[in-house]
Amino acid sequence: MAAKIYECIEVIGNKIIENKDFLTDLDRQIGDADHGINMARGYTEVLKTLNQDNTDIGAVLKDTGKVLIKTVGGASGPLYGTAYMKAGKVMSGKTEVTADDAKAMMDAIIGGIKLRGKAEQGEKTMLDSIIPAYEALCAGIDSGKDLKACLEDMCSAASAGVEYTKTIRATKGRASYLGDRSIGVQDPGATSSLYTLEAIRDFAAKL
Ligand SMILES: Nc1ncnc2c1ncn2[C@@H]1O[C@H](COP(=O)(O)OP(=O)(O)O)[C@@H](O)[C@H]1O
Ligand SMILES: [Mg+2]
Repeated sequence: MAAKIYECIEVIGNKIIENKDFLTDLDRQIGDADHGINMARGYTEVLKTLNQDNTDIGAVLKDTGKVLIKTVGGASGPLYGTAYMKAGKVMSGKTEVTADDAKAMMDAIIGGIKLRGKAEQGEKTMLDSIIPAYEALCAGIDSGKDLKACLEDMCSAASAGVEYTKTIRATKGRASYLGDRSIGVQDPGATSSLYTLEAIRDFAAKL
């Protein structure tokens, strides 16, 4: 898939910015009501500062990560920043994304988030949408489906992951202070991760 990486980041950023209020509202219920505000601030700065003409996907992803680390704050800033930095390392110097690259990026992203946040699947975090998404992506690719169909499967799995976060108690991050009272609300970070993956799917569908 050859395309301008800036345009993909733009689709992601716009989707996050459009859903800012909903993400903040989720965080109001189980956190401190800033997730959408934090993420929208970060992507607004990303879209303003990125070099739109850079075709080195790795470089653009790394730049995105650096800006998010600087501007998002909270728990999610360093975690999303790490995710982009790890994906950027996989894509260093590349101008196209293959199915193998997509798998390698997701694998590196999960490793980075786990290391940084010391969380595992099932703790009501962004990992609960990203890990099932990765597994569905791999299953699709390994069964020979084309990449666009695999991205569909990836998003369905991420969406199911978000639903699953409603049923579990948070054991990491601010929501963990609520204990059992965190049950019933979907995790804000799992939701912003779903939106990120959906934006990538929608971007890829138009190529
Ligand atoms: N240790 C962690 N590992 C992975 N994700 C985490 C962790 N801690 C928090 N999160 C994610 O961050 C989201 C909250 O982000 P945000 O509201 O921006 O930060 P804060 O909790 O500092 O206000 C949570 O919904 C969760 O998905
Ligand atoms: Mg918060």
